[in-house]
Amino acid sequence: PQTLAPLKDAASFPLGLAAMTGQFDDGGWTQVARTHFDRITPEWEMKMEAILLEDGGLDFSRSDQLVARARQMGLGVFGHALIWYAQGGPSFEALADRPAEFRRAYRGYIARVMGRYRGQVTGWDVVNEPIRDDGSGLRDCLWSRALGQDGYIIEAFEAAREADPDVPLFLNDYNLESNPAKRRSFLTLAERLLRAGAPLSGLGTQTHIDCDLPDGAIRQTVRELAALGLPVHVSEIDVSTDAGDPARQPRLFAEAVEAMGDLPPAQRFGVTVWGARDRDSWLRRGGEHNPLSPDRPLLFDDDGRPKPAAQAF
Ligand code: XIL
Repeated sequence: PQTLAPLKDAASFPLGLAAMTGQFDDGGWTQVARTHFDRITPEWEMKMEAILLEDGGLDFSRSDQLVARARQMGLGVFGHALIWYAQGGPSFEALADRPAEFRRAYRGYIARVMGRYRGQVTGWDVVNEPIRDDGSGLRDCLWSRALGQDGYIIEAFEAAREADPDVPLFLNDYNLESNPAKRRSFLTLAERLLRAGAPLSGLGTQTHIDCDLPDGAIRQTVRELAALGLPVHVSEIDVSTDAGDPARQPRLFAEAVEAMGDLPPAQRFGVTVWGARDRDSWLRRGGEHNPLSPDRPLLFDDDGRPKPAAQAF
């Protein structure tokens, strides 16, 4: 079989891997995770959907378990995601007309989740996917309707900083490589947040891309994000073979690594791959793409063998 030196030893920055609790019982997965990666990002277990109960209580059983499993293996954990337009809950909806209480519950959620994992995580995605798909500005969502368009984001970062004075706090979004308008909106939001004094410590670009992404788009995006002076995280990279020429996959993965390595060391937060083997991918399980498609978006094949993309990476 093709051999591959541990990726994490070759990288000049931390390497992350998306993980779910059940995968820690799969020997093929743990082999790839422990050999090649420094830290994991939970695919699901730390999202509001997994933690917040209908009555507003919090259930940390799943997130605790995931964090414990990762730490047993010597892997770090990157927290994902506190506030996301796609997830809310009846306990917040019930407060939609009572701004003061809504704000208290919102800040309380952030404080309790972050407080629980203080000292155990290497960073947090505080606000995930705030920009509209067409790039025309901020999404309208439960949070923005209650707390204002920039308001809910500023409030989230402030509450997060209060809960943990040290951990890096990220703003994260997708399609920044393929959609320059969305990238501009994301960057102007980040600039407004910094001007408003929000404790933003880094910028994440998910980098869920397809094989038809032109050369240079990843590099350009990482550079533009870094121009604000903050650390940059390529936070969820996968390269779908559903569109474009699959032969371009290795060089797209390599471009992400090179773009990160070209940043000043203090700005290289790392590159996180959104799954280990192709069969682990959310695109296979049926995300936005055709669930039946034989997508091969990751670095290792279904049997855990390194693909050309892993060699390039
Ligand atoms: C995805 C997970 O991979 C899936 O397992 C889950 O069902 C839905 O969420 N952007 C994000 C991630 O920020 O949280 C998403 O993860 C992928 C897109």
